[in-house]
Amino acid sequence: MMVRHLLKISDFTKTECEKVIENAIDIKKKPDKYTESLKGETLLMLFEKPSLRTRISFETGMQQLGGHAIFYSIVDSPLGQKENIHDTAKVASRFVNIIAARVFKRQDIWDLAKYSDVPVINMLDDYAHPCQMIGDFLTIKEKKGKLSDLKMAYYGDAHNNVTYDLMRFCALFGLKMDVACPKGIDYTPEQEVLEEVKQLAKSSGAIINVIHDAIEAAEGADIIYTDSWMSYGIPKEKEAQRKKIFKPFQVNSQIMKTAKKDAIFMNCLPAMRGYEQTTEVIDGPQSIVFDQAENRLHGQKAIMLFLREKF
Ligand code: CP
Ligand code: NVA
Repeated sequence: MMVRHLLKISDFTKTECEKVIENAIDIKKKPDKYTESLKGETLLMLFEKPSLRTRISFETGMQQLGGHAIFYSIVDSPLGQKENIHDTAKVASRFVNIIAARVFKRQDIWDLAKYSDVPVINMLDDYAHPCQMIGDFLTIKEKKGKLSDLKMAYYGDAHNNVTYDLMRFCALFGLKMDVACPKGIDYTPEQEVLEEVKQLAKSSGAIINVIHDAIEAAEGADIIYTDSWMSYGIPKEKEAQRKKIFKPFQVNSQIMKTAKKDAIFMNCLPAMRGYEQTTEVIDGPQSIVFDQAENRLHGQKAIMLFLREKF
């Protein structure tokens, strides 16, 4: 039988995303029901870049499901260097039930999945952040009561893993999305992502546009979302220039005022006040960033149970 992996959010169908989110809601409501669901199972977590939320929520989540998580840093020994990825995947599959990885290059996690005999979960590469999506849209469901008839406006760095998966999710679910970003290939989505999103939108009716006008994007928006201008791995010396380029796409109170009155503000975190959003926005009444962060835990528990076929 084919082993299922989660490398980008569109590896799941819309129905599967809905199911995982529904299960996450139940897990959140009744955690005691699930304390033995992955009893005796082990999750291997390979990290090539830093993490606060992802590491803590996966480790805690696995423990709450009755299993065990191994944190394994590959900062000093990236995949494919000491031995090929084939061998790493084959060996790890003999020991653990799930492999999760956070890597710089998408090809590395694709190779890991290709050779792994157990499910592989992407904990962030340069192409996707699917675990973030399940937590985020679980939060949107809680706040808005639905995952339809919504408009998301995304701000800032759109040549970006989180942006790509937000676009894929909105495309799967037939939502509206304006991606507001600077012009230029370093700041806009890759062609391959635009193509995938266009195909998905064809069947769902989603309307997804990349635009360069911050105010226009906010009009009619239910959700204002932004991500770091300095993603993991971007060299410090690029910071001043990037700050200048992204500034017109900072989420400030004018953006929040232009969006719908009951719009929510989201950021996957880590966040820098004064960069991708102002302090008043992230610490203001419309910000739901900590509920959003908490839901990583419940969402990932549901993802692991789904991939282990416990649902
Ligand atoms: N949002 C997120 O993935 O956070 P970490 O980088 O802290 O894991
Ligand atoms: N785009 C960010 C997401 C962090 C969760 C990064 O890659 O660092």
